[in-house]
Amino acid sequence: MIKLNVNGQDHSVDAEPDTPLLYVLRDDIKLNAAKYGCGLGQCGACAVMVDGKAALSCVTPLVVLEGKQITTLEGLGTAENPAPIQRAFMEKQAAQCGYCIPGMMMRAQALLQRNSKPTDQQIRTELAPHLCRCGTHMRILRAVQRAARMMESSDHSSSGHGSSL
Ligand code: FES
Ligand code: FES
Repeated sequence: MIKLNVNGQDHSVDAEPDTPLLYVLRDDIKLNAAKYGCGLGQCGACAVMVDGKAALSCVTPLVVLEGKQITTLEGLGTAENPAPIQRAFMEKQAAQCGYCIPGMMMRAQALLQRNSKPTDQQIRTELAPHLCRCGTHMRILRAVQRAARMMESSDHSSSGHGSSL
């Protein structure tokens, strides 16, 4: 039995220690935002956050996750109350098929938590390991910049200067 904390909730999982986190998220905990793309750590579709850093759940075994905080896209916001990164991706229509988008959003969220004003180049570099077969790259870039502005203006909500990238 392995104990995991996912989106602030504790789970006891009956699985082998080397089981990839992605399988447990989708099959046992029924959180389906993280996607199975390559299963080899090469596409980014399965990204989640572990202790605030992006991690590829298809190649992260359960054994290294005990005592850590795992966050999936479901842990950021809901359809009724989306987080800034989710609202920004919707506003900028950054998805076509959407398959890559949960992973993109999780790595973007991790970036914005450590760098609230990334340059376009920093966003490109950060998201480079993520493949988007549809090619919405420019919209994704604009969405991350939009999310940065939204998060900044919510941090400084009394200052009254937001902008709509
Ligand atoms: S499914 Fe994990 S990196 Fe592709
Ligand atoms: S939106 Fe289809 S793979 Fe990126």
